[in-house]
Amino acid sequence: MTLADTANPTLTSSILYLDGISVSFDGYKALRELSLVLQRGEMRAIIGPNGAGKTTMMDVITGKTRPDSGEAMFDGKYDLTRLDEADIATLGIGRKFQKPTVFENHTVEDNLLLAVKAPRGVRATLFGRAEPGVRATIDRILVTTRLQDHRARVAGSLSHGQKQWLEIGMLLAQDPKLLLVDEPVAGMTDAETAATAELLREIARTHSVVVVEHDMTFVRELGVKVTCLHEGAVLAEGTLDQVSAHPRVVEVYLGR
Ligand SMILES: Nc1ncnc2c1ncn2[C@@H]1O[C@H](COP(=O)(O)OP(=O)(O)OP(=O)(O)O)[C@@H](O)[C@H]1O
Ligand SMILES: [Mg+2]
Repeated sequence: MTLADTANPTLTSSILYLDGISVSFDGYKALRELSLVLQRGEMRAIIGPNGAGKTTMMDVITGKTRPDSGEAMFDGKYDLTRLDEADIATLGIGRKFQKPTVFENHTVEDNLLLAVKAPRGVRATLFGRAEPGVRATIDRILVTTRLQDHRARVAGSLSHGQKQWLEIGMLLAQDPKLLLVDEPVAGMTDAETAATAELLREIARTHSVVVVEHDMTFVRELGVKVTCLHEGAVLAEGTLDQVSAHPRVVEVYLGR
C-alpha cells in the first residue's frame, strides 16, 4: 500500500475497494476497468446479464483469478491481487458458490461443527467434542438459517433451499467479515426465496455482503443498493427503482 492510498478516504472507509479491474481470458475481456466500492457493513446486490462478469468479479476478490490490471483492496489495507486464495479466506472473505456443497451424509449440526472448527477457508476432516462456545455459535447459526428444528437430520435429506441455508450457515461459522453469495435463490421455491432475503438481511446487520442474483423479486426484497454489470463494467448503480429505470439496463437485461 502506498502513501497515496492511505490518503484515499474512499479506500480506507471501505470493506471492499475495486478500481479499474480488468481480466481477459484468451483475449476476451471478462472485466473491463470494473470499479466498485462496498462500505463496511453494507449489503450490495449485483445484477446483470449472463456473461456480464459477476462471477469473474468474485473470482478476483477471492484470489481465484488474478486481474491483468487494477486495484483490489480488502478492509482498506489488504491487497487482494497479491494474496492467494487461502490467505484471502483467512482474512475473512467467505464465498458461497451456486451449487450447495454440504456433507450430505452428516447431520446439519455436524456440518456446522466441521465449519466452525476448521480454520477459515479450510474444511476440517475430524470430529471432536464441541466446546460450550462452539455450541452457542452453532445454536445461533441454526436459528439464523432456520434449521433449528432440523439439526439432527442428515444434510442429504434437506430441501434444496435448506441445503443452501446450511451452506450459508457453514460460511457464518467461519465468522467472515465479507460474504460473497452467488445466485443463492436459483432453484428455490417462492417461499424459500422470501425466507432467504430475510435471512440475508439479518446476516447483513453484522456482516458486509455481496449478493449476485437474477431474481428481481428477491433483489427487491433485499432492499439494498444495486449495481448492474454489463460487458465487464458497471452499467448502472443505485436503488433498484433507479437501476430498473435506466434505459440501457432495460435494453440489455431487464427487457429480455
Ligand atoms: N476461466 C475462464 N476462461 C475463459 N472464459 C471465462 C472464464 N471465466 C469466465 N469466462 C468468460 O467471461 C465472461 C464473464 O463470465 P462470468 O461467469 O463472470 O459471467 P456472469 O456475469 O457470472 O454470468 P452468469 O449470470 O451467467 O453467471 C463470460 O463470457 C465467460 O464465458
Ligand atoms: Mg455467474
